[in-house]
Amino acid sequence: MDNLLAPTTHTFAVTQHPTPRTEDDLSTILESPGFGEVFTDHMVDLCWSERGGWHRPRVQPYGPIELDPAAAVLHYAQEIFEGLKAYRHADGSIWSFRPEANAARLQRSARRMALPELPTDLFVESLRQLIAVDGRWVPNAPETSLYLRPFMFAKEAFLGVRPAKKVAYYVIASPAGPYFKSGPAPVSIWLSTEYSRAGRGGTGAAKTGGNYASSLVAQQVAYDHGCAQVLFLDSVEGRWLEELGGMNVVLVKADGTLVTPDSDSILEGITRDSILRLAEDRGHRVERRRVSIDEWREGVASGEVTEVFACGTAAVVTPIALLKAEDFEVGSADAPAGELTLSLRQELTDIQYGRREDVHGWMTRLDS
Ligand SMILES: Cc1ncc(COP(=O)(O)O)c(C=O)c1O
Repeated sequence: MDNLLAPTTHTFAVTQHPTPRTEDDLSTILESPGFGEVFTDHMVDLCWSERGGWHRPRVQPYGPIELDPAAAVLHYAQEIFEGLKAYRHADGSIWSFRPEANAARLQRSARRMALPELPTDLFVESLRQLIAVDGRWVPNAPETSLYLRPFMFAKEAFLGVRPAKKVAYYVIASPAGPYFKSGPAPVSIWLSTEYSRAGRGGTGAAKTGGNYASSLVAQQVAYDHGCAQVLFLDSVEGRWLEELGGMNVVLVKADGTLVTPDSDSILEGITRDSILRLAEDRGHRVERRRVSIDEWREGVASGEVTEVFACGTAAVVTPIALLKAEDFEVGSADAPAGELTLSLRQELTDIQYGRREDVHGWMTRLDS
């Protein structure tokens, strides 16, 4: 769909928060930010309409959004989102990691959910605008960041089932503490055989709220079994690995090959893509193909599969120690994190925090 706002005319109207958090309040928050609980002083928003395209870019005080009760998103879930982080480097500068990849994924999600595509430059500019007013919210302790949450939804008040003609795009941000307080801790995960996350031709590859809503009950079953996350299989044969509720999965073979599911119903993670590129740079073979649950089970039993990890923006890389299912278990809860898992995680976070040369040109500065 058309972008009627030319790239050179991205003038965001800025309204400063009348009572932003005091420096004292902010330093207390940043000492222990948790995740997704506290939000910065401002938010960014743009409108889209069928006739006007993208328009009215704004930065305004963070606060409730007024919505008509008939807004289509509340009824038909026409909504998409992204998640990425702003990192503070040692010199105080603020950076994001591959934001253009998040922009491209938001565009793919938009196409699937019949929403308008937000151009990449406008996406990156929306992040810069938020950092320009709320940069002081980016923490500087090790492994902390400011989590950025761009999202788009159908705002039109209309109960007919068709793509909305009025859409809103927002960016909000929330400081995030270290995911693991003392190094990446291996987790146990639950294999769901009762529920699927996505079906053939469905919305699995889009980052859309409904995928997460439908995963919640399976995630609850995982918690009930003492597991941190749920692993989904394909919905047709119930045999091929898909992904976790919010992370992709990678197996490491004894010969150093990394194997990850190739499926058109999983979310293509930017962390996974980056980790696999770093592994390839080191000379590891990478296979993106169908991976069966038996390959995992038998591989761990025979020693052919030596490490398994999950990856995504929030935790970066999480070692998987144990896979639990109704009638079997693979691995053991006290298994240590794999060596390659840990060293790839270290390399990626070193790039993100500016401690290592960014040879791939993945980092984009947000505060200049
Ligand atoms: C379902 C799902 N799969 C995979 C990922 C990993 O994607 P990324 O590495 O881009 O964060 C996410 C988000 O973190 C997700 O929600």
